[in-house]
Amino acid sequence: MDSHSPTLLKVENLSKKFLVKKSLFKKEYFKAVDNVSFSIEHNHVLGIVGESGSGKSTIGRLVLKLIEKDEGKIYFEGKDVYKFSAEEEKLFRKETSVVFQDPRTSLNPRFKVFQIVEEPLIVHGFNKKEREKKVVEAVEDAGLDSSFLDRYPSDLSGGQRQRVAIARAVVLKPKLIIADEPTSALDVSVQLQIINLIKRLKKEKGISFLFISHDLNVVGMLSDRILVLYRGKVMEKGDARSILKNPLHPYTKILLESLPPDHPKRRKNLSSIPEIYREEIKGSCVFYSRCPKATEECKKEPAYRITDSREVYCHFV
Ligand SMILES: Nc1ncnc2c1ncn2[C@@H]1O[C@H](COP(=O)(O)OP(=O)(O)OP(=O)(O)O)[C@@H](O)[C@H]1O
Ligand SMILES: [Mg+2]
Repeated sequence: MDSHSPTLLKVENLSKKFLVKKSLFKKEYFKAVDNVSFSIEHNHVLGIVGESGSGKSTIGRLVLKLIEKDEGKIYFEGKDVYKFSAEEEKLFRKETSVVFQDPRTSLNPRFKVFQIVEEPLIVHGFNKKEREKKVVEAVEDAGLDSSFLDRYPSDLSGGQRQRVAIARAVVLKPKLIIADEPTSALDVSVQLQIINLIKRLKKEKGISFLFISHDLNVVGMLSDRILVLYRGKVMEKGDARSILKNPLHPYTKILLESLPPDHPKRRKNLSSIPEIYREEIKGSCVFYSRCPKATEECKKEPAYRITDSREVYCHFV
């Protein structure tokens, strides 16, 4: 990869709120993504981790322009994605793709594997001969052999179906794949196979991933950088190894503690942490109500603390 080429994806101060209640006099909004910034270099994996409802998928959908942002900027290889020409928009669609959690619902059950993987090639105007070659290549890249081409999704196991979804995602040779909980619906042993496949696609094809998961254990296995999200806000972000070795934010520590008991990285001396500690306070740190370390100071919102490898939203870092 050309070391001078601009950052693959740069997201600056991205925010999104959803209308949740509307009456004659009042509209109520829910902030799903709150002032989030990150970047992904070529041939890198950024893991976004956070519990259900923290805004992970919304970030993925915003990056792919499937929904409108409220505020913020998104640059793909240095270009503002909201100012693309028609030609640049088409290239962006070709160079980005997505893999979802549940391949049972994301794959068309009436299509055979060949047709499923072929479809993006038709959209982008490849001729029949090119399509045949590229489909076979993509299916092999995803770790399946060509005997699968004639089969329907219902004839496949969960792991095989997710490989088909990955073949479809790589068939146009994208630069960035948004993988939204791609292993969460799979058995643990199959999860590991899919994680290894993603690692291989990064290494051999130079594809970057925005890898979304609620499981820091999974994210830690393949990410170069990690972003920890809570209620739409970045709690901590930085180099993956350094976060796993020395989490600084109390929420990251809680996520690490929820690693399986036999995991070598599990912190043995952390006691279990109850769901809710104290009442919500307007204008406080967003983690105030659940933070085991909160003090009076936390009734005010913290600024981001920046250390050499990290950015942390906490008064005490
Ligand atoms: N179209 C929408 N309209 C209203 N609220 C929405 C919409 N999309 C998402 N939300 C809300 O925004 C919040 C963030 O949702 P999102 O799907 O991004 O979370 P997530 O971190 O991906 O969760 P999960 O792990 O369950 O997939 C949730 O509270 C969700 O209910
Ligand atoms: Mg989600």
